[in-house]
Amino acid sequence: MDFDKIIEKNELWVQSKLDQDPDFFKKMAAGQSPEVLYIGCSDSRVTAEEIMGAEPGEAFVHRNIANMVISIDLNVMSVLQYAIDVLKVKRVVVCGHYGCGGVLASLQAADLGILNPWLRNIRDVYRIHRNELNALTDSQQKADRLVELNVKEQCVNVIKTAAFQKAAKSRGLTVHGWVFDMSTGKLKDLDIDFETHLKNIMEIYDLN
Ligand code: CO
Repeated sequence: MDFDKIIEKNELWVQSKLDQDPDFFKKMAAGQSPEVLYIGCSDSRVTAEEIMGAEPGEAFVHRNIANMVISIDLNVMSVLQYAIDVLKVKRVVVCGHYGCGGVLASLQAADLGILNPWLRNIRDVYRIHRNELNALTDSQQKADRLVELNVKEQCVNVIKTAAFQKAAKSRGLTVHGWVFDMSTGKLKDLDIDFETHLKNIMEIYDLN
């Protein structure tokens, strides 16, 4: 990316959008009604819209290191509540990716400063699933599986919120877990059994 050419590139992009639809920006300025809330990793290779083939206005996006949904993170919790209560999204997606630096860092014995409390949430995912993970002897397999289990646990964290529980009950809001494989460019749906998870965790986390 040539930083000095960004404004020029923006002008080319504006023109390409106007060529397709002269009202493109008029429509965009009129408001948004995205159907999907996408929560993904900040990793520069895992763009949200581009990998989904989505246009501006189609996805409400939140990204942080290792696609975490942490209950005391005001940022992600605000995004969740706004997307669910105000934008009325129909689906929430948590998208992880193989080779995630945050997940790999959580597997290392190292003091990473302010990242310690953030990555500790991934270590907690490891602890919950330690029997399955410890049975994997190949470090690549172990890291890949932790990426998947982390996505699953972050979906469960979405389900633990009051906003999600209410919308799931009243209008059928669902949560989906995906993993992006950057070696192929493909998105993999983890087919998380959302209904079962919802039922199981409501015994303890019911806020509704
Ligand atoms: Co990542």
